[in-house]
Amino acid sequence: MKKLIIINGPNLNLLGKREPNIYGSLTFNEFFKTVREKYPQVSLEHFQSNVEGELINKLHETGFSYDGIILNAAAYTHTSIGIGDAVKAIETPVVEVHISNTFDREEFRHKSFVSPNAKGVIIGFGLQSYELAIQSFL
Ligand code: DQA
Repeated sequence: MKKLIIINGPNLNLLGKREPNIYGSLTFNEFFKTVREKYPQVSLEHFQSNVEGELINKLHETGFSYDGIILNAAAYTHTSIGIGDAVKAIETPVVEVHISNTFDREEFRHKSFVSPNAKGVIIGFGLQSYELAIQSFL
């Protein structure tokens, strides 16, 4: 059984409430429940933190034993050399995802410290971005 984890960064705990015009009105837990049911052949976990170091710790913890990491580092995508370096340091392939099309938004969202070391990048398909990332590992 493939072991995958979705790692979500800051403010993504507010999905459903936060700027629903951009991020939709579904909570992550609602989405996660349906996606888990849809892919029973996958061991799928979820971790969210608003703290940069906790995201790095989770990348270290899972990055040598899991089959895949789906990472939405949220705002840290655009600022965190530490998260970028962690993605480079681990062995598990990381697929970077974003809910919104970051290239259709402010200029500061066009830069990613994750992308250069990601296996691939999925941007702008709403919560479906996560599902496409799961499919990429199957
Ligand atoms: C995001 C895009 C980021 O620019 C933003 O800071 C987020 C969410 C997305 O999934 O669209 O918090 O990663």
